[in-house]
Amino acid sequence: MQYDIKKIQEQIKTNGYFVLKNERTIELANGARQEYRDSFNKLPLRKGGFSYSELQKTSIRKKNISSANGVGESYPQVLQTVYYPTVVGLPNLKQIFDLEIEIKNQAVNMPADFGNDPKRDQWWNASRVHHYPCGGGFMVQHRDTHFPNIMGQPRYIQVLFLMSEKGKDFHTGGGFIYDLSDRYIDIEEEFGFGTMFFFDGRIAHGVKDVDPLDDFSLDSTKGRMAALTTLYQYRE
Ligand SMILES: [Fe+2]
Repeated sequence: MQYDIKKIQEQIKTNGYFVLKNERTIELANGARQEYRDSFNKLPLRKGGFSYSELQKTSIRKKNISSANGVGESYPQVLQTVYYPTVVGLPNLKQIFDLEIEIKNQAVNMPADFGNDPKRDQWWNASRVHHYPCGGGFMVQHRDTHFPNIMGQPRYIQVLFLMSEKGKDFHTGGGFIYDLSDRYIDIEEEFGFGTMFFFDGRIAHGVKDVDPLDDFSLDSTKGRMAALTTLYQYRE
């Protein structure tokens, strides 16, 4: 896919974010949503944590219902996550993750494949789908502080790919940011399904309550979903 790294860097610097969306990304979103649903139905919800090596053997589906994340930042959240280590047999999700990794790395002047070899890089790309169920899935507004601090980069780029449709898979709430002019943007309504969204993790962002009046269930494939990849520190 064609993209212009200089333009991406400039827009993130100016606005805080960059949007990549075209016919191909919408096609990928349709494919990925179906792949996600198929794999979701085969994966039991896992109890407890997991190690990197364990994740190499299988996809892992776990819930994230807490007021603090695993790296010491405090932001309440209600969602579930499916980690995809190898994404075998899921060609659309694989293409999305590959593209996210390649662009995100280059946008901060890192080698395009950084994180793909954890032993070499000491970081690995945690490719996964965040799924905010209807009935109250959310992530409170926050700014990412942990990784920008320890990575020591001037700018820390986050990426997410919108693979659910507001108005169809869910009706209210979803992802939002405040751009560098402090303008509130509902990214589901303004950009929507099939958007690959790059942003400076230090701008305020979150996920507003997804259909809070619906019944809550972690077993439903409805809700708000985004495919993302984040660098995690490598430990054996
Ligand atoms: Fe965040």
